[in-house]
Amino acid sequence: MSALIEPVIGLIGGSGLYDIDGLEDRAWRKVETPWGNPSDELLFGRLGGVRCVFLPRHGRGHPTPPSALNYRANIDALKRSGVTEILSLSAVGSLKAELPPGHFVIVDQFIDRTFAREKSFFGCGCVAHVSVAHPVCSRLGDALEDAARGLALPVTRGGTYLVMEGPQFSTKAESELYRSWGCSVIGMTNMPEAKLAREAELCYATVAMVTDFDCWHPDHDHVTVDQVVKVLFANADKARALVKAVVPKLAAPRGPCPAGCDRALDHALITAPEK
Ligand code: ADE
Repeated sequence: MSALIEPVIGLIGGSGLYDIDGLEDRAWRKVETPWGNPSDELLFGRLGGVRCVFLPRHGRGHPTPPSALNYRANIDALKRSGVTEILSLSAVGSLKAELPPGHFVIVDQFIDRTFAREKSFFGCGCVAHVSVAHPVCSRLGDALEDAARGLALPVTRGGTYLVMEGPQFSTKAESELYRSWGCSVIGMTNMPEAKLAREAELCYATVAMVTDFDCWHPDHDHVTVDQVVKVLFANADKARALVKAVVPKLAAPRGPCPAGCDRALDHALITAPEK
């Protein structure tokens, strides 16, 4: 029998979410990593007795754009801080009429269209190929869905998040293309975050919070930051309530992840170990 794991919840806050209220014993602390600096100091504390570590993805005040984020440092800083599961909260555009601004989507798939980011902890000298066939931990998804429904938030379970490089929003042709692929939402940040969480053997799930209809919608010819920001802060209030509701659901000491997120490297290393 393996020892039980005392969960430590990592929270990554997207646009509009730069702090978590209600944290007890809170302290912002600098965490160094061999990959460089994470986006900001990390906020340590407890929610209802459960250890939590919060990182504002873009830094407080939002100084860092999606392509310039140090995703490796962000995930490694959380891992070094003892985090066992990551809940990622992200602003997105909607690619479906039935997912209007204000709606939350607990996504279960990603299409990674980013191209200008460091995407792996592994490189020359140690080669690993982890599986990301199922990039999201369904145990965390269950807890998020339960918490969101308990709060009567408008939520959909499942959906594909198209991750674009940015920083510009999509052209109409791109937006229509992603819709034809069946994607639900579009954003700029969850890859390589999700892939790196898997390499770090951390359970990971995303709540995608819709701020706009992107540019495909007949009534929304183009996306503007004003539009996005207007919805962003209302979404952030709901996200804070969701965090407060979901953390207690993950409080109990647990065994190994049923989906194997915490053993992702068991069959992924291809480089022979040094003799
Ligand atoms: N983030 C919020 N809205 C977005 C959109 N329409 N496209 C890409 N990222 C977004």
